Amino acid sequence: MKKIVFESDVSLASFAADMVQKQIESKPDSILGLATGSTPLGLYKELIDRNLDFSKITAFNLDEYYPIQKTDDQSYAYFMKENLFKHINIRPEHCFIPNGEAKDADAECKRYDELLEAYGGVDLQILGLGENGHIGFNEPDEELVAGTHKTALTQSTIQANARFFESADQVPTAALTMGMKTIFSAKKIIVLVTGKKKHDIIHRLFEKGITTDNPASLLQLHPDVTVLVDTAAEEG
Ligand code: GLP
Repeated sequence: MKKIVFESDVSLASFAADMVQKQIESKPDSILGLATGSTPLGLYKELIDRNLDFSKITAFNLDEYYPIQKTDDQSYAYFMKENLFKHINIRPEHCFIPNGEAKDADAECKRYDELLEAYGGVDLQILGLGENGHIGFNEPDEELVAGTHKTALTQSTIQANARFFESADQVPTAALTMGMKTIFSAKKIIVLVTGKKKHDIIHRLFEKGITTDNPASLLQLHPDVTVLVDTAAEEG
């Protein structure tokens, strides 16, 4: 696992965009794994500004709240449309996100894994990092789940995400998320980590061992992970 430290979140976003651009240019029909949260916003803005050709790209998002309507402005479907998809030339039928409207969550998770497998898996996965070490919505626990699954959000994640809602009691308490195996099947992974609040977790990630209590620590086992960190997260 390689770590690169950047002076600012702006230079970090620009470097991440270089990596995505390289991927798109070397394989125009790449499968990109995408993330939500505030961290990837700089990268998405940079990708939009670069006017890259996404016409053959397919996108699979990591997770979605459950249950939630796609039109809800807190849904990740809405987030992706507003912050990336509607600004680039990706085809809407090439954009996949777990369906927060599905009646049967387990059937939806199975469908999502099968679909991703049929597409041949993710070439380049973008990940954010939860303050508690979650990736996607794989929360710290005694056991982690391999495939895409429905999961309950921890109190710490609900509190962390409350800033996007009017109050913490409006944050959904469950989500559909790619599992550890789904994420690990990506050929290449970039983790974006910015801001003071990620100081403790970034140090746990690089200085401590592998534990399900810090799901991101399992990334130490993946052969191609680059962690991009800004000085605010690195120095605290
Ligand atoms: C969210 C998402 C994750 C994201 C993380 C960090 O809850 N499910 O995919 O990486 O938490 O969010 P942020 O970038 O806003 O700190």
